Amino acid sequence: MANLTVSYLGLTLRNPIIAASSGLTNSISDIKEFEERGAGAIVLKSIFEEEIRRELEKDLNKMNRANFLYPETMDYYDTYASDDSLTNYLKLISDSKKAVKIPIIASINCVTAEKWPYYAQNLQDAGADALELNIFVMPSDFTKSADENEKVYFNIVKEVKKHVKIPVALKISYYSANLSAFIQNLSNSGIQGLVLFNRFYSPDIDINNYEVLSTNVLSSPKELSISLRWIAIMSGRVGCDLAATTGIHDGAGVIKQLLAGANVVQVASAFYKNGKEQLTNMLDDLTTWMDQKGYKTIDEFHGKMSQAKINNPAAYERMQFMKYFAGKGL
Ligand SMILES: Cc1cc2nc3c(=O)[nH]c(=O)nc-3n(C[C@H](O)[C@H](O)[C@H](O)COP(=O)(O)O)c2cc1C
Repeated sequence: MANLTVSYLGLTLRNPIIAASSGLTNSISDIKEFEERGAGAIVLKSIFEEEIRRELEKDLNKMNRANFLYPETMDYYDTYASDDSLTNYLKLISDSKKAVKIPIIASINCVTAEKWPYYAQNLQDAGADALELNIFVMPSDFTKSADENEKVYFNIVKEVKKHVKIPVALKISYYSANLSAFIQNLSNSGIQGLVLFNRFYSPDIDINNYEVLSTNVLSSPKELSISLRWIAIMSGRVGCDLAATTGIHDGAGVIKQLLAGANVVQVASAFYKNGKEQLTNMLDDLTTWMDQKGYKTIDEFHGKMSQAKINNPAAYERMQFMKYFAGKGL
């Protein structure tokens, strides 16, 4: 039978399917069920930079009121940190490490490199095997250049790396002026993995009540192609591992991303839609396909369909449906 073991962020995973950060990775019972269903690893639901900063500010106010000296070091602040959501998160990490054997990756949603990065060490100390930073700087500030927006990512990596020794992965979006160079530079910034790409709140308008709504909270399999394209383009050209996320709903989606060059995949929506048993189905499909093709290990086909390895590399860069525009395709 096929061996599904892969390496991701220097960790050994029994297979490449990771339960992505979501409301389904926020409790010990769900995490245990993911392990029973076969997950290779878990990314916990994110805590937000704002939660850390809010607590920091609250506690500094408390200290000021009590006529404490302003703390020169974060160690001093640590003595006063007392917040339920942060304490609960550290407990979630340590409890899940006790409850399951698969790797536990903690996650922080962040938008700046200011004040909060010291807190990453607490996640490491609670037992996290790795840290995923979900960074999104919305490029909607007219006064900022593309370089300024992208610099934030590098600053966050630099600051967080000062505080942790565990592997760090960045989960990013595809909003970048020069995406391939951005991904490549990030991959060489000292991180161990890049997760391509996060999926965001999608705005919609209620035309009767003039309200902005959110739509399509869960992805569809049609959304696979964006990360597939970029995993294929970047595979073999980056200095870290690649995880694919968004639109992977079945075994075929997993196989496509591995062929494109992903080391692992991260899945959320398919589990919301079809239950966690979908993970077992995906694994069964992957194993059956590998057996049919005669592959014993994932390494034997990993990246086989990456841009660098196929005969028609332009296929991944084609943007227009020329033959359809010429009326020949449909
Ligand atoms: C309900 C829900 C909650 C999510 N929460 C988080 C989160 O806290 N942090 C994060 O990095 N990603 C979060 N995500 C994004 C997922 O981790 C995943 O990257 C994204 O949904 C794309 O994968 P999918 O197509 O399999 O859903 C969430 C997704 C969903 C659907």
